[in-house]
Formats: sequence, structure tokens, C-alpha cells
Amino acid sequence: MSTLGQDLLEQTAAIELRRGLLSLSGGVPLEVGPNQILLGTVAEMRVHDKKNRSLSLEPDEFLIRADHGDLAREIDVVGGDDRGVLYGAFALLRALAQGEDMGKANLHEKPAMPIRWVDEWDNADGSIERGYAGRSIFFDAGHVRDDLAPVGEYARLLASVGINGCNLNNVNNASVFLNPEMLKGIARIAETMRPYGVRVGLSVDIASPEKIGGLKTYDPLDPAVKNWWSTKVNEIYDQIPDFAGFTVKADSEGQPGPASFGRTPADAANTLAAALAPHGGIVMYRAFVYNHHLDWRDPKADRARAAYDIFRSLDGKFAPNVVIQTKEGPIDFQVREPVSPLFGGLTQTSQAMEVQITQEYTGQQRHLVYLAPMWKQVLDFDMQVGGGYTPVSEIIAGKSFHRPLGGMVGVSGIGRDAWLGSPLALANLYAFGRLAWNPELTPEEIATEWTRQTISLNPPVVRTVVTMLMQSWPAYEDYTGPLGLQTLTDITGSHYGPNIESSERNGWGQWHKADHEGVGFDRSVSTGTGYVGQYSPGVAKMYESAAITPDDLLLFFHHVPYTYKLHDGKTVIQYLYDSHYEGAARAAQFLEDWKSLKGRIDPDLYANMLRRLEYQAGHAIVWRDAVVQYFLKLSGIPDDRGRAGHYPNRLEAEDARLTGYHVIDVTPWEDASGGKAVSCPVASGCTAEWTWNGAAGNFQLAVQYFDLQGDAHFTFLLNGNPLVSWTPNADLPSRRPNGDNSTRFTAPTVNLKPGDVLAVKGTPDGADPAALDYIELLPETPEK
Ligand code: GCU
Repeated sequence: MSTLGQDLLEQTAAIELRRGLLSLSGGVPLEVGPNQILLGTVAEMRVHDKKNRSLSLEPDEFLIRADHGDLAREIDVVGGDDRGVLYGAFALLRALAQGEDMGKANLHEKPAMPIRWVDEWDNADGSIERGYAGRSIFFDAGHVRDDLAPVGEYARLLASVGINGCNLNNVNNASVFLNPEMLKGIARIAETMRPYGVRVGLSVDIASPEKIGGLKTYDPLDPAVKNWWSTKVNEIYDQIPDFAGFTVKADSEGQPGPASFGRTPADAANTLAAALAPHGGIVMYRAFVYNHHLDWRDPKADRARAAYDIFRSLDGKFAPNVVIQTKEGPIDFQVREPVSPLFGGLTQTSQAMEVQITQEYTGQQRHLVYLAPMWKQVLDFDMQVGGGYTPVSEIIAGKSFHRPLGGMVGVSGIGRDAWLGSPLALANLYAFGRLAWNPELTPEEIATEWTRQTISLNPPVVRTVVTMLMQSWPAYEDYTGPLGLQTLTDITGSHYGPNIESSERNGWGQWHKADHEGVGFDRSVSTGTGYVGQYSPGVAKMYESAAITPDDLLLFFHHVPYTYKLHDGKTVIQYLYDSHYEGAARAAQFLEDWKSLKGRIDPDLYANMLRRLEYQAGHAIVWRDAVVQYFLKLSGIPDDRGRAGHYPNRLEAEDARLTGYHVIDVTPWEDASGGKAVSCPVASGCTAEWTWNGAAGNFQLAVQYFDLQGDAHFTFLLNGNPLVSWTPNADLPSRRPNGDNSTRFTAPTVNLKPGDVLAVKGTPDGADPAALDYIELLPETPEK
């Protein structure tokens, strides 16, 4: 293998190729001799080899071709620039890792969009906002970590899927990152990522001139403020010549912003842009700006309107190096939302779409949710601007409106625990990079590529994993918030377990407006908030009327009675019941699917995911029951199939003979079976006991308990004999027993006969009171 040039990234490309080939060949060193791989930029190739004269490639673009000369079999990896060479090397490895024949290599690709960034929401203390995989790889205790080896590995990971930027810190509480000592550390991070072509950026606090600069104002139009920013930016570029730019969250969720001075986002963005422009830096100004003190009694108040209402009128007023970064939907990374209308509203402004790789509202990596199908729907969505074909993918690529910049930003949330905690969650990071590179790829193709490189080349294994991935988002939607209800989680707290009313009657504006009669938010122009009118006429027409709004967004756009019929004739209420049962059943099926891989994949991976999928199957039941119980009670309309609210196989803890345990109300009530549970205040332990009145036979036992902070201990006893014990210590949100921490323990089969005494003994530990909801006994054999 030889490189034609000395560029840093070209050298990285050679190192990666060597390393990759060695690992693919099982450690046998590469043969030297007639077979050779030649790496170089197009300019270098031109000098080297006359036949490449006419070739012209753009930056980041690459061409790989196998050249069968007389004596030598040569593969050329040609890049438009050295970054293109690196991407080419990774693309070649991607092909080879999937079993493709190197001798037939023939690839020619260029990225669809220039901005392909991940945003980290890391804090200086090493915690990560909405991160679910341990602590920061970048920061600890207010400083950049000494050991940046994981940062280098992360940069490799990013570059291998074409990601070229990493914004390092949380969009909240950002001012400390501009302190001189911190900037020195940031420069070390930049140096570590540089060999992989990943440029670093920083989130900045608009109030920094006052907070850390000692000025009396941070008014973006004040000359002293402008001067402060350009001096600060010069200081950054002195240390980081390839610094990518700033990300800004302002006037949002308590962050300071230009509104305090009567200035607009354009005023703020342009001040930063002016400071960055001489160095080639950019401003990613987030459109996630809204009032979180909305009046929920005002039928016209609508958070979904905010981004468009604020930014649309500023179109054309932003400096050329400003990009407006908009979340894919108008609310906040819910399990399903319509596409943000702002993408169609800005035709003279560069735009980027922000998605979340970290699964804040989609199961926090404890649930398997492959997000590429969701992102793909957004990318493919045609905004019909001016009546033309303007899919989001082309708008953010800068194509539709001829913008110089644009792209995709993924809020990644990686941490020290295996990047994203769950091994299968890494498919999301992979898919993000692949879609930003090429939004034409299908989620299934990407899942297949990923599985083949990561888990196995064995076709049945690949099929199983890909099917699980592909079904996971629809399943999660089904057992959380279908029909455009949004996730239905605890929106003022963990964003994890079910809490259906937490979104109502407060200023945060994530309302679904469920009452006794009906559910959903009227956002139509004719009778609602007018949000629908923010779309182009072609799109607005589809959403304006409930009759043609797609079912999966019906309740986002319309308030309808529970008896309203969906397109297939099923009522809304019955759909809510059915989807929750189907979704939870699919989560249970994932576990069975995974079990079929035993012995066919890496044992550690098998065991790791098995544990997670077991948990997910149980938590999907918690979700199912909470949402179903809630809507049953609210609507008063029974489930046609008799499931909702009827749990014939359950023995409730509150109905048991209790020793030590006392009955508690769980909040929200729907998070516990029957709204109640029991909690143990006695250090030596408590017991809940039932006498079996059912038929004799074999039963699958499940125990539903609450896993709080602490190592409480449980034992299940049959006729006084301990059968099984467990000490749960998963790190789940919330300090109180609720749907965040309600967990299902599935025990081996038990054989029961009438009169048997079943008991659970719970021993509390610290703040964990061994709270118990119910036991469930599902018959395994027909009654005798
Ligand atoms: C969500 C998230 C916050 C985050 C915010 C943002 O609301 O819960 O933690 O700060 O998005 O995107 O700025």
C-alpha cells in the first residue's frame, strides 16, 4: 500500500486500511508484491499517472477502482482532497467487511450535504444532558480529560461514516467553555480528532460577554459586545485553526438571548457570524426557540407554531455563514411528529436538520428503537415549496434553494459506557452518518450494512437482526404514543416512563388535550391554532381536514371523539387499545427473535442484548397498561376485545395479606396495576401473600416491582419455600415508584394447585423500599 501524498488524512487513510485489512484477514499481514493499493488525491494522481488527467473530484468525494494492469493488480483510492481519500478508504473497508471482492472494487461517491455533524450535550463536570451511556469522554470535573484516547477512537468511528464535525458541549450552560483554560483543552480535543477530518465546534451562551467577559451587556448589536466576540473568536482560532464554529441555543428554555434587548435571532447570529467569517467558521443557530410559559387555556396557543413564527420573517436576513438548525419536528424529538414547516419557510437561508441519536424520548437506549426509518420519512417528505418537488433532504443539502451550506446534525449523547450503552443502539449512530452522506439509502439497506459489519455475515442472522431493527420504531410508537399523540411520557421529568397527563395544563405546550369526549389538538386553520397554515398549500391541504390526515398524525392535527373512525373503520379508542397490545406483543417477540441467535453470534453481545430485551418486553407491558388504563377510564368506552382494565391472571399486591408492607398510591395512577402498590418501611423486610384459588397446572410467573435507587432484595416463596430470589439494581429514573422504574421479573415455571400459598418477600435497601405492584401467573398448560 502506498500513499502519493504526505497529508495527515491521507496517512490516516493508509493506517486505517492497513489495520482494517489485517483484522479482516484474521491477522495475516498484507502481502507485498504485485497487488497494491494506491491512495492519493486527484491532484496527486494526475502527477503520478497520466491516465487520470481528465479526472476531477470535489472535496470529500472519492473514486475507487480496481485497475488490472499487465503485471500488477492495483486498486486506486482517489479523493477530491485528503478527506476524500480517507472516506474512500473507509468505504473500501465497508465493502470488504461485507464480503465484497476487492478485485472488483468500483465505487464513486460524494456526500449529499456539506454539514454532517454530531452534537454532544456534554457538561464541563462530565455529565451529559440526555445521555444514557455513562459520563463524558471529553470532560470531567470542569476540565478536559487528560486521557483523550477514547476521543480519538470516537473520531475514527465518526469518520468511518463520513461525519465531519463534532460540537462538543451542551447547548445549555455553555459559557464556561470559552474560558482560556478550557480552550486549551478544547485545542487538545481538536488535535485528537483532526487526523480523522472531524472538526470541533462549541455551543456558546449568548450572554458570555457579560457572564465571563465582564461587560455590562450582551446586546448583540452593542459595539463592545461585537468586539468581545471577535477577540474571543481570534483567541480560539489561534489555537484551533480549523475550528468549525458555534452552535447557539438562545431565548429558549431559560437560556439568555437577543430578545432581552429587543433584538432578533438574526442580530445575534450575525454578530457571531461576523466574528467567525474571517476564519471560515459557521454559526449553527437553533430554531428550537419557544415560550415554555404558554397559556394552556388559550385555544390558539400552540408551541408547534413557534419556530416558523419566529424565524420565517427573518429569511434572507442571516449572514452567509449562518445555518438555521431545526429539529425534525415542530415539538421535540417525539416518537412521531410531522416535519417542521420551517424547512419550507426559509428559502434564502442555509438550513440543517437536527435529529437525536440519543434516545431521549424513544426509550433511552433501554428500548431497542432503530431511528433511521423515522429520519428517512422526514428526509423524503416533500414540502412542496412553491408547488415544486422540494423534499427535506434536498432543502437541507442546499439544493432546492441553491444555498451554500446545509446538512444534518445528530445529537449523539455518546459516553464512556460502550458509546451508546446498548450495542444495537449504535446502529443509530451509523445510520445517522450514512443518511447524512446519502439520504437516498434506505433504512433497511443501512441496517443490513451495519449488521453485516458488526454482528454477522450469516444471512439468517442478518435477516433476524434487520427485521428486529426495522420493526422497533413502529413497535415503540405502538406501545407509547400512537396516532400522533407524541410519546405520552413524563415530559416535565425523566422523559422516560408513561405519564399521560404530565403534558397537560402547563406552559410547556406538549398538549394532547385528552378529555372525556375526545383527544387530540386542533391545529387546523379553520377551527384550530392555524399551525397547518405554516405548510405550503399542497401539504396544508392534507393536514387541514381530519378525513385526509394520515392516521399516524391524526391526533397531532385534530381533536376528535374517541369514536371517530380511522381510515380502516376502526375507532380511535379501539386503535389505542389494539396498538398498545400489538406493540407490547412485538416487544415480547423481539426477545424470542434474539433468543434464536443463541450460539450464532458473539456470546457477550448475545447476553448483553438478551438482558436488555427482557427488560424492554416487561417495560412495554408497563407502557401498554398505563396508556390503556388511562384512556379506558377517561373515555369510559370498553375495549371490544375485553383486555383493557381486565387482568384475570394478576394477583394485586394491595389485595394480598400484608406483613409489614403498606399500600401506597402510585403517581401517576396509571403507572401501577389498579393505581396502587405496596411499599416496605421495615428494614428486615415485608411480605405479601396470596392463596391460590385458580386451577391446578403450570404457570409462568411474573413479578412486577419498582426498581428504585438501592439494592432491595426480593424472594418468591411457594408454601413457605423460597423458589427464586433477585436483587435488581438497574439505574432507572425517578426516586418514587412509577412507570420509570416499574420492572418485570420473569421467573421459571411454577406448578400450582388450589390452596397453595404464594408470597413475595421484599427487603428494602436505602432509598429502595422493595415496592411491589402485582404478580401474574400465565397458564402454561390447559386447565385439568
Ligand atoms: C429537549 C431536552 C433538553 C434540551 C432541549 C434542547 O427539550 O429535553 O434537555 O436542552 O431539548 O434541544 O435544547
